[in-house]
Amino acid sequence: MSEALKISTEQVTLDLPITDGTIKATDLKAVPTSAGPLATYDPGLMNTASCRSSITYIDGDAGILEYRGYPIAELAANATHLEVAYLLLFGELPNATQLAAWDKEVNTHRFVHENVRGIIQSFRYDAHPMAKLMSGVASMQTFYPSARRIDDPDARRMNIVRLIAKMPTLAAWSYRQSIGRHYVYPNDELGYVDNFLAMLFQSQQRVYRPDPRVSRAMEVLFILHADHEQNCSTNAVRAVASAGNDLYTSAGAGVGALYGPAHGGANEAVLAMLREIGSVDNIGAFIEGVKNGKARLMGFGHRVYKSYDPRATIIKKSCDDVFAVTGVNPLLRIAIELEKVALGDEYFVKRRLYPNVDFYSGLIYEALRFPPEMFTVLFAVPRTAGWSAQWLEGVTDPEQKIMRPKQIYTGHRARSVVPIDAR
Ligand code: CMC
Repeated sequence: MSEALKISTEQVTLDLPITDGTIKATDLKAVPTSAGPLATYDPGLMNTASCRSSITYIDGDAGILEYRGYPIAELAANATHLEVAYLLLFGELPNATQLAAWDKEVNTHRFVHENVRGIIQSFRYDAHPMAKLMSGVASMQTFYPSARRIDDPDARRMNIVRLIAKMPTLAAWSYRQSIGRHYVYPNDELGYVDNFLAMLFQSQQRVYRPDPRVSRAMEVLFILHADHEQNCSTNAVRAVASAGNDLYTSAGAGVGALYGPAHGGANEAVLAMLREIGSVDNIGAFIEGVKNGKARLMGFGHRVYKSYDPRATIIKKSCDDVFAVTGVNPLLRIAIELEKVALGDEYFVKRRLYPNVDFYSGLIYEALRFPPEMFTVLFAVPRTAGWSAQWLEGVTDPEQKIMRPKQIYTGHRARSVVPIDAR
């Protein structure tokens, strides 16, 4: 059944075809208005599809998240992060031979050029690791100029592999620089996640071997964070890519977007909030403050999920696994009680605000002794798989154009410059 939207104004009547639940925004230009051709006003792009994508499917009302059609819970229970990265990039789960080759391909590219080490080293001792990561990622196109050949499939694949492989190294070194420890080089004997943990935590000559429960919990967290369709940072990656940019330049913008407290920075903000609350006894007053607009309940609410965030459900289970190794984080009690109070409060119920992925992930990271500044970095490392897949899809999509939204101009017009001594 073909659908159409009938628009009638004093001047025209138009039937605009509806395809995939959307009209083409440029079709509206056929409708004249006193301010020029009709356009849409959509701050935050809340009701605008900016691309076609076959990577990640979300149904926010039903709490569904699928990568290439596979439910997130099944992937979290059965796959590794690199397996999921392969799925996101190439559309299918690898067989055993393909996975072994993929693991090897990625894991042999984990070293970074020594000059990148110099870039990270040159930051001030208290620089946020996300700023170091952003610079490290952006700098990589200067070390791998082939990345600029975005029309060359071999160059695209090579640089995707490089970025996914080197991201943990950049992230771990950004952390080690903050604490003034020597940099740990990648270890070929360790898998993607264990190697990352070793580069973060290994001290002196001891060989770092994480508890398998911690390692699996990190793997699950990586899978949950691997992609999330057109979120703020992915949109930033695609927008920068739409100007013809390489993966590193585009992903650098993604790291910047993710840094924001309304996006990936929320897990860091959750911990700060739980500390500020300090005790279960203070929850009531804090919730009242949120309802009066004094603060936001960080880790709650989502632009898309309006029933529950399926990632939050899986993370809660990972919390149990990690706390079995590390002991229970005292802030967990506050978090559980806070969630209970909020879920029973009309303010949050009416606005359909539920815990999102960040509500519990910060507790796990803290239990693993990561400082809060590292939380968003731990989001950025796995999200690199999604950014890469989305970048690839964007730069190979013949329908894509340079992103260049319109504006509604609200300023002055056609003024004359008054000489400076007469102003
Ligand atoms: N605490 C209190 N009130 C809230 C919250 C919150 N966390 N989130 C939304 N609201 C209220 C908001 O005040 C508004 O109320 P009213 O209609 O009375 O003005 C209503 O709910 C709708 O909020 P909104 O800001 O229009 O919703 P949005 O879709 O623009 O924002 C959000 C989504 C995630 C930015 C927001 O919910 C938020 O700031 N949450 C806290 C930060 C957070 O946890 N971010 C992580 C998101 S998940 C990780 C990721 O994917 O990046």
